[in-house]
Amino acid sequence: MSSGRRHAATAAERPDWSSLFASRTKLGGGELTAILSLVGSEDTITFSGGFPAPETFPVALVGPILSDLLTHDPAGALQYTPTEGLLSSRTAICELVAATQGTRPELSDVLVTSGGIEALQLLCRVLVEPGDAVAVEAPTYLGALMAFTGSEATIVGASMDADGVCVDELEQRFSSAQPVPKLCYVIPDFQNPTGLSLSAERREALVALCRSYGVLLVEDVAYRELGFAGSPSAPSLWSLDPDSVLQVGTFSKILFPGSRLGWAVGPSQVIAMMATAKQNSDQCAGALGQRVMSAFVEGGHFPSHLAAARALYEGRATAMLDALDHHMPEGTTWTRPRGGFFVWLTTPPEVDAIAMASKAHREHVAFVPGVPFYADGRGSNQVRLAYSGVPEDRIAEGVKRLGRLLRNE
Ligand SMILES: Cc1ncc(COP(=O)(O)O)c(C=O)c1O
Repeated sequence: MSSGRRHAATAAERPDWSSLFASRTKLGGGELTAILSLVGSEDTITFSGGFPAPETFPVALVGPILSDLLTHDPAGALQYTPTEGLLSSRTAICELVAATQGTRPELSDVLVTSGGIEALQLLCRVLVEPGDAVAVEAPTYLGALMAFTGSEATIVGASMDADGVCVDELEQRFSSAQPVPKLCYVIPDFQNPTGLSLSAERREALVALCRSYGVLLVEDVAYRELGFAGSPSAPSLWSLDPDSVLQVGTFSKILFPGSRLGWAVGPSQVIAMMATAKQNSDQCAGALGQRVMSAFVEGGHFPSHLAAARALYEGRATAMLDALDHHMPEGTTWTRPRGGFFVWLTTPPEVDAIAMASKAHREHVAFVPGVPFYADGRGSNQVRLAYSGVPEDRIAEGVKRLGRLLRNE
């Protein structure tokens, strides 16, 4: 009788499938896979992935919600849902957006997505054709860059300073880019990867600029509710112009990423087209995650949950900033975030951050070098450090090791 074990083929015996891969597989994606693959290495101090702290996961509240759902409505909780999302979860998103941004979306302006990244993928499916231009902050979120380049868009990057993206530079790019970008993607609050936020004045200017050029402004609010001072001080771009701004949100950072849940809120015409595109991809976001989220919102748990998460991340950010002050050699600079998950470090120009990442790995510290956050090869002497998933005492040790490495460079 056969043991049931699969015969282990040697590398030479295995068929090579790579000649069948579609050309779009060459359009990138390896960087994110490499970051995610580091999650399991326990002895490494991992400043690489933008992972939420497991300590913030509301296990004690989610347990009873799940048990209640499975007792009273198992058929609903475990069934497919409408493509645009369950009415209860779209209503919960309207509640949350109204409470935190001061403007309530209509139900027809809301699409429940399988995470923020899916909202970006759907937008690309709906809007971006090969050769279209997409404007972004330089640097920006790697997953968004991958979505845009994967759709064969031409990326138009505008620099950032302490007040966020330079709107003057964007205006120059809009007036000179051929073609004019179809969409402009920004992360106005505690940006990934820099931790910087867009000033209130620039928000107004950016909304007016995009409107005047007919560019769809896409606002990613992944970290907006994680400001250490509590409620955000500047208005969301969507609240400034709901007819011209498409907001992408996610529950990954403010609740947990395990249910892959996010939202798109914006002009109903775009939302309806994104829902059609969703029918041809995953068809609907998972019911279970949607039901847990809406029960969490209806139960009024978000304010205290967010307050605890903000306090924890503020502690970690402070630990990282203190350690950087203490251990970094002269000539190295970094941002001082007031919320979110990230510090953005700039070393002297001669340091090669990619080479340093491999050396750091040997010292059991991981970070993401700056280059993949740009579309044009910049960032060779920059580094993203995520403090979100690392306990305070480990942060100090990790930064100490990085300081030692940098001094040797
Ligand atoms: C700015 C930004 N947007 C969106 C996402 C995607 O989040 P998810 O797909 O987990 O909802 C992330 C995750 O790192 C992010 O940093």
